[in-house]
Amino acid sequence: MNLQELAAQVAAEFQKHYGREPRWIAAAPGRVNVIGEHTDYNDGFVLPMAIDRYAIMAADLASAPGKISLYDTHFKESAAIDVSGPVTKGAPKWSNYIRGVLAGFQNRGWKIPALDVAFTSTVPLGGGLSSSAALEVSTGTLMEAVTGKKIDPVEKALIAQKAENDFAGVPCGIMDQFISALGRENHLLLLDCRSRQTELVPMNDPAVSLLIINTNVKHELSGGEYAERRAQCEEAARLLGVKSLRDATAEILERGKNKLSEVVFRRARHVIGEIERTLHAAEGIKNSNWPTVGQFMYASHYSLRDDYEVSCRELDAVVEIAEGIGIKGGIFGCRMTGGGFGGCCVALVKTDAIDSITKRISADYKAKTGIEATIFSSRPAAGATVIKG
Ligand code: GLA
Repeated sequence: MNLQELAAQVAAEFQKHYGREPRWIAAAPGRVNVIGEHTDYNDGFVLPMAIDRYAIMAADLASAPGKISLYDTHFKESAAIDVSGPVTKGAPKWSNYIRGVLAGFQNRGWKIPALDVAFTSTVPLGGGLSSSAALEVSTGTLMEAVTGKKIDPVEKALIAQKAENDFAGVPCGIMDQFISALGRENHLLLLDCRSRQTELVPMNDPAVSLLIINTNVKHELSGGEYAERRAQCEEAARLLGVKSLRDATAEILERGKNKLSEVVFRRARHVIGEIERTLHAAEGIKNSNWPTVGQFMYASHYSLRDDYEVSCRELDAVVEIAEGIGIKGGIFGCRMTGGGFGGCCVALVKTDAIDSITKRISADYKAKTGIEATIFSSRPAAGATVIKG
């Protein structure tokens, strides 16, 4: 379903639920990270793109003051958020993504109006494609539409990240919210997570595509593993005497090896290598050097699997199948994407081989794991947008 169709659908659901048309519609995309994993909170580089899957919200002013009514059109669930004072954490759990963003706008002096809202999402939940960032950034974009005020997209991303940190309890970096707010059609975004400078990297060769393979094994980043990795990176930086792992090199790491535990050494080795791979891969994409980009993607996966230990059996199975298909079968490279422990792989493929690759991965993955994968491709999509209002 494209964005216009999705907007029509959410508008119809709004009408059915609230008995009138919505006045505003805003949407924000999920993302897939092509390379640069677990580098964002180390001040490193990431290379994500927005995908044409969205969280979308339709709204109108509410008749009753002081609260935002929420209706999830997919799960047919309702919730309400008290906006008469400072917005706080609350139930249900998913409402915290929205609550956190509202609180962020309040902290910047915005008054949150009472609203009736219907929303849905086509970003798979818990699939490592940033369904939560999409919901957060679409909430921020809806606030802009409703109030008629604009906010710098970088500020919007930072509010959304803080919502994820403080209200959802995930100490995430800046990547997901940034790409959801700033994505550009037919481009990847090379983001320097230290300076927050961005560079758009064109990705519009119709002969190559990015294929997203959802293992359908769900992940939960609030489970503690993510926070543990982050703490290990901070420890490594401290022991190596650098501000963050962005400032370390392979030589610095080697020299400081005996100060680090074996595990912390491997965590640091992943981050330092991954930051380099990301820059090389971005160059490769600019030069349409697909086999090279693919090699960096595989190297990224092995490092995430062996050094960073955030992969899982199912993600590894997909990558092994992809390797078996190889360039001959149309795959340049494949890796897990996002936080890990389940979720999706991303593969760089020849567009005309998508059908045969999809069939082969589906069958082999099912045979290896007993699970049905969900596979789809996406062109790089635009970031958050107001569709009506
Ligand atoms: C999650 C986080 C991001 C990033 C990735 C790993 O998606 O939300 O900030 O750290 O994991 O690269």
